[in-house]
Amino acid sequence: MVNFCCLWFTMFCFLLHYAYNAKGSPPPKVPAMFVFGDSLVDNGNNNDLNSFAKANYYPYGIDFRGPTGRFSNGETVIDLLAKLLGVPSPPPFANPATSGSRILGGVNYASAAGGILDESGQHFGDRFPLSRQVINFENSLSQLRTMMSGRDLNQYLSRSIAIMVLGSNDYINNYFLPFLYTTSYNYNASEFANLLLNHYARQLVALYSVGLRKFLLVGIGPLGCIPNQLATSKHDPGRCVDNVNQMLGFFNQGLVKLVDYMNNGTHPGSIFVYGNVYGAIGDILNNPSKYGMSNSHTSI
Ligand SMILES: *[C@@H]1O[C@H](CO)[C@@H](O)[C@H](O)[C@H]1NC(C)=O
Ligand SMILES: *[C@@H]1O[C@H](CO)[C@@H](O)[C@H](O)[C@H]1NC(C)=O
Repeated sequence: MVNFCCLWFTMFCFLLHYAYNAKGSPPPKVPAMFVFGDSLVDNGNNNDLNSFAKANYYPYGIDFRGPTGRFSNGETVIDLLAKLLGVPSPPPFANPATSGSRILGGVNYASAAGGILDESGQHFGDRFPLSRQVINFENSLSQLRTMMSGRDLNQYLSRSIAIMVLGSNDYINNYFLPFLYTTSYNYNASEFANLLLNHYARQLVALYSVGLRKFLLVGIGPLGCIPNQLATSKHDPGRCVDNVNQMLGFFNQGLVKLVDYMNNGTHPGSIFVYGNVYGAIGDILNNPSKYGMSNSHTSI
């Protein structure tokens, strides 16, 4: 499934494994984790959708609990972060069992092929784009309102953490596919990044306005280095597709600016953090031995 940037995601998990020192469960650092994103963090929301973007079959999950819908051999970065935060990994929204007290520790809304723009990834079939993930969060919120007082709910939400991993599909499953999507005719790279960031900002404000206060906004990794792009673009052997990575730079730099803006008194009581996945994965690709690997090349 080269379409879902599994390669660098696997490396991202690997990196976190390094950071995570398993010494029993620490006390919970947050009451709940709410996850918005794409296949990098989907843990089963696409399983029952009419979609080609599914991972609920072998060999996904071979090093974990078997296939769950995670686009990974093992745990996702969310599973690892949940351990670090001392909370259970949040269950997928789309699973009917994710209701009642099971949503108290948070919910995962991520959907493979989904993007910041509603149209991104539509050639894979159904998926939950960011706008729909926010609506699904509001659905959880109405359930939570029946479980605690307004005051407790506000406190709970303000202490919880929202993790957002979005944007990859707006590039690999939209902007970079000119025969299926018109965006690259209508927008140059910086205009397209701005379009994405405007949509993103609107959804962040929506989540802030219903009470979330802590946000981790994860940037886009070096998609010019994934097999999906190496196979479709012209590049020198052993090198990543530079112009693809340059285009993502507009998004990542804009996201840093958006984080600064959101932190700059415009949204009191909140904290927004940028996750520099581009830098982290780039370092793994450039210095594999630092991470216990002998080779970081992709064989295309
Ligand atoms: C994109 O187009 C705008 C004009 O609309 C221009 O100012 C900008 O330099 C262009 N950016 C790129 C990266 O081509
Ligand atoms: C933050 O706010 C100050 C004062 O309102 C302003 O001068 C500054 O440009 C802002 N910075 C950003 C990154 O928005």
